[in-house]
Amino acid sequence: MKNICGLDFGTSNTISTVYKDGKTQMVSFEEKKSLPSCVFFPFKDIQNPIYGSIATDTYINNGYGRYMKSFKRILGTPFFKQGTSLKPGTTILFHNIIVNYLKHVKKETELFTGKETDYVVVGKPVRLSENENGANSGITQLETILKDVGYKNYSFLEEPIAAAYHHKDKLKEKSLAIVADLGGGTCDFTIVEVEGKNKELQILATSGVSLGGTDIDGSFALKSFFSELGYKTPDKLKGLSLPDTPYRYAADWNKITTSLYTLKTELLVKKMMGNAKYKEKVTQFYELIQYKKAHSLLGEIENTKIKLSDVEKFNFISEFIPNDLTITKNLLEEAIKDIVEKILRTSLQCCELAGVQKTNIDYLILTGGTSKMPFIKEMFTDTFANATLIENNAMDSVALGLLEKAKKDIGL
Ligand SMILES: Nc1ncnc2c1ncn2[C@@H]1O[C@H](COP(=O)(O)OP(=O)(O)OP(=O)(O)O)[C@@H](O)[C@H]1O
Ligand SMILES: [Mg+2]
Repeated sequence: MKNICGLDFGTSNTISTVYKDGKTQMVSFEEKKSLPSCVFFPFKDIQNPIYGSIATDTYINNGYGRYMKSFKRILGTPFFKQGTSLKPGTTILFHNIIVNYLKHVKKETELFTGKETDYVVVGKPVRLSENENGANSGITQLETILKDVGYKNYSFLEEPIAAAYHHKDKLKEKSLAIVADLGGGTCDFTIVEVEGKNKELQILATSGVSLGGTDIDGSFALKSFFSELGYKTPDKLKGLSLPDTPYRYAADWNKITTSLYTLKTELLVKKMMGNAKYKEKVTQFYELIQYKKAHSLLGEIENTKIKLSDVEKFNFISEFIPNDLTITKNLLEEAIKDIVEKILRTSLQCCELAGVQKTNIDYLILTGGTSKMPFIKEMFTDTFANATLIENNAMDSVALGLLEKAKKDIGL
């Protein structure tokens, strides 16, 4: 029998599904069913990068090297063909960073199944199908990546179609679904029409916004935590707010290394410390920068967000913030209101583009980690009030749908 695989390569996490021992299974990475999409290049052994949670842990525990995440965002941009410096004298093409990451995923998948992959169905971000730039298109880039990874047979399926495919049995003939993929870096919406006896799935329109879970973390950090470190507190002379840029860097995963840990920012924060009315708060912030612990703090804030999907309040205790804080769900909701509104507006744009009324949507299919937030779920169920909510397997439906498509393609 052919050895098949469904590959959901996400901005934040990657999931690989296989058909093994007569059943669908998820490949286990580091004893979890998904692998964080990130890499750490240790300076002392730059040829042997580390992937996933181990990469993040090594980095935030002051590993000496270069850390990267969200590299999927490079697809479809001119950066793809460019190189980035890992350390003086060593550069690597972004293309190769993704190839090596996916080679690791392929290797782990094949260790799990004990066989080489014969055929893989790979998730295609809808935004990539939209821009047709020939050789520079994201899809062409993804194809060259898959070939270089070593996959001999592959095909693509749009990520939202894969999610709808996974829930196909629940969808009735002649209906409309909106697939909301609320992920780490982006929120994408797709109106899917279900047609005919075989329930063919067709995309009517898509819309997307570069906002997601990581932006929620940033806003939550600034509004609910960073005042403890001096954010928006006054100076001692005129009572004016201290500059906020260093705090904005500390709230953004991608700016911590490039903009927060720089001499320029360090000097600015040192100056702020001298001017601050609450010197002890800014001193704490200065130490966070000195000990390079901003990623750890942001990680703790992300975990608090995730906990608040299940509980009403959470007692936040951290070595990076002097006072223990009681963080409530309301505080989180208040901090992210603007982001959520933008996300919601993007979903309505999708209806407009498809020429359908929101009241005519029959199904609301939720996928992605951010869709787990009760506040967000509620906003969507209120907006698409006539739609049946489908939210099971929100984190895995794309990967499961991809494998189901692979099974159908080989006649299983
Ligand atoms: N229970 C939860 N409550 C709130 N947020 C969550 C929960 N679980 C995961 N998240 C958030 O979901 C995000 C990751 O989602 P997901 O794995 O769907 O992203 P992705 O598919 O890799 O990214 P993208 O879709 O942008 O390419 C992270 O920001 C994470 O904090
Ligand atoms: Mg995703």
